[in-house]
Amino acid sequence: MATAPAVDQMPSETPDEQAGREQFDRLISEDSRIEPRDWMPEAYRKTLARQISQHAHSEIIGMQPEANWISRAPSLKRKAILMAKVQDEAGHGLYLYSAAETLGTPRDKMTEDLIAGKARYSSIFNYPAVTWADMGAIGWLVDGAAIANQVPLCRASYGPYGRAMVRICKEESFHQRQGFEILLELANGTPAQKEMAQDAVNRWYAPALMMFGPPDDDSPNSKQSMAWNIKRFSNDELRSRFVGMMVEQVKVLGLTLPDDQIRFNEDTQQWEHAPLDWDEFKEVLAGRGPCNAQRMERRREAHEDGAWVREAAAAYADKRATAAAQQKAA
Ligand SMILES: [Fe+2]
Ligand SMILES: [Fe+2]
Repeated sequence: MATAPAVDQMPSETPDEQAGREQFDRLISEDSRIEPRDWMPEAYRKTLARQISQHAHSEIIGMQPEANWISRAPSLKRKAILMAKVQDEAGHGLYLYSAAETLGTPRDKMTEDLIAGKARYSSIFNYPAVTWADMGAIGWLVDGAAIANQVPLCRASYGPYGRAMVRICKEESFHQRQGFEILLELANGTPAQKEMAQDAVNRWYAPALMMFGPPDDDSPNSKQSMAWNIKRFSNDELRSRFVGMMVEQVKVLGLTLPDDQIRFNEDTQQWEHAPLDWDEFKEVLAGRGPCNAQRMERRREAHEDGAWVREAAAAYADKRATAAAQQKAA
């Protein structure tokens, strides 16, 4: 009868793999960072590649609802601020694609998957931005939810991801602030402006809460992500914390949240809110939201329109490589 391997030995592992795995386990248990050249379990690599690329896609697709309002911003100041914000989101996409590439998937492949409709991005960006007040509600609620989600990711165990998040979070704070300020101005404007602000908050509130992902008992991968120090808090914990922040901030705005079930539960020390429509979430995620088709079509067009830039960049890189090779040979 064969002897069963000891618990901490994988049967088909080479000594190098075993040393790599031991180092990985040690780094995780010390709450240190894993860097691109370190050994890592395939499942860790895959989980991160999926999460970071989805995150990058969300930043890029997320530019669309707001970019649509740049030409209709009510003043030069608002236009300049909104342009800066949308450009920041492009930058976030770039940092995150770079971070994802360190895991071995080329950016071209990630883009290909996105435009082929194979990759996911945050379901929130499949809702339409129908009034100027939506720029306020998106900044306050959507970027607000993004911050609540992303601040803990600054401590994610994968180095390139955590470092990208540090810079992203600084910019997200400005995004939330500018959204809040748009709503504040509208809420203190004419009755029609106040109504427009309230209407935008009413429409974006529930989708923003869904940005934290499905409830904990329906989020099978969360546990493993927490064990790997990628995620630090569960979806429901983050959502609860976010509701607690918003319920205070909305008072300053002089508006209300469309949820009469918000309360702080002293026993669980968690903020509670009305149930969310998870069927709607699944529908939108499956590609059947109000703007999915439009977002994908616009992304494909932009990709095609940008072909000459990619070709020019590749030609320039070739030219430099040839010149460098010639110089070396001389
Ligand atoms: Fe962003
Ligand atoms: Fe943002």
